Amino acid sequence: MTREITHEATGPKIVDEDDIEENGNIAVCMCGLSGNYPFCDGSHQATADEEDGRLYKYEGDDDENPRHEIAEMVFTDSE
Ligand code: FES
Repeated sequence: MTREITHEATGPKIVDEDDIEENGNIAVCMCGLSGNYPFCDGSHQATADEEDGRLYKYEGDDDENPRHEIAEMVFTDSE
C-alpha cells in the first residue's frame, strides 16, 4: 500500500521537555495521519486494512471516511 499525505506545515516541530512530560513515552508518527504530528495519536489504525498495490489519499472534512482510493499519483514534472 501507498498513501499520499498532505501537510501544511512549513517548518519543524521542536520537541522539548514539555512534550515528553505531556506525552510520556514518545511514539513518532510514521503513517502521516496523526492529528498531533509528529507524535502518534492512534490515527494509524485507519490504515490497518490498506491493501498492497493500492494507492490511498486521506483528506477532506468527512471524519467518518477520510480515505479515498486513487488511481495514480501524477507529478506535474512527469512526461
Ligand atoms: S503512526 Fe501515525 S498516528 Fe500512529
